[in-house]
Amino acid sequence: MRETAQPGDLLDWYDAHARDLPWRVSPADRSAGVRPDPYRIWLSEIMLQQTTVAAVKSYFERFTTLWPDVAALAAAEDADVMAEWAGLGYYARARNLLKCARAVVADHGGRFPQTRAGLQALPGIGPYTSAAISAIAYDLPETVVDGNVERVMARLHDLHTPLPEAKPALTALADALTPQTRPGDYAQAVMDLGATICTPRSPACGICPWRAPCAARAAGTMADLPRKSPK
Ligand code: ADE
Repeated sequence: MRETAQPGDLLDWYDAHARDLPWRVSPADRSAGVRPDPYRIWLSEIMLQQTTVAAVKSYFERFTTLWPDVAALAAAEDADVMAEWAGLGYYARARNLLKCARAVVADHGGRFPQTRAGLQALPGIGPYTSAAISAIAYDLPETVVDGNVERVMARLHDLHTPLPEAKPALTALADALTPQTRPGDYAQAVMDLGATICTPRSPACGICPWRAPCAARAAGTMADLPRKSPK
């Protein structure tokens, strides 16, 4: 019988292989007690909503240099923020970014709310982003499901139901694996696994920390998963 996937095996892999991203607190710093800045986590997650990590990096650096905290961003001129956003696309995100920063300052004393409901009441923050901020910034055991996580779960469980129909099942599978210990690092670890090893094409199964429990690897179906409904 295959063993079930252990979050601890993924966390061990993350400790050694976490991507160095400008908004990320490294697992070593995290375990030494460094806390992520919710402003930086929020900003990165908004930028990453429809844009790749590679494209976001330089924008993130520029924004946080110009506006190092939420109060600075809230006080920025609309035109300056829109000009810096140029190239990232989906400009409603930038307009909501400013609305959100101003609401955090005006209604929450400059601190991001600490609950998912409080976060989701803010402009531009939906269920995905509230889960990501709760997990990464506050280390709460929220399940963060993006396209990477869906692919990892579909393969780990050899689930052949096509997307988008499979979304609730994939979310439930992801939920069942989310650990109570280090949930923030775990959320980032699953995303990194999907981005660097469990990739859409040619996954690097030989070096995957979850190769032993992976049902798709056992069945040889990795390349077929996740399935997608014909449009
Ligand atoms: N994609 C969206 N959020 C991310 C994060 N925090 N780390 C890596 N990739 C991501």
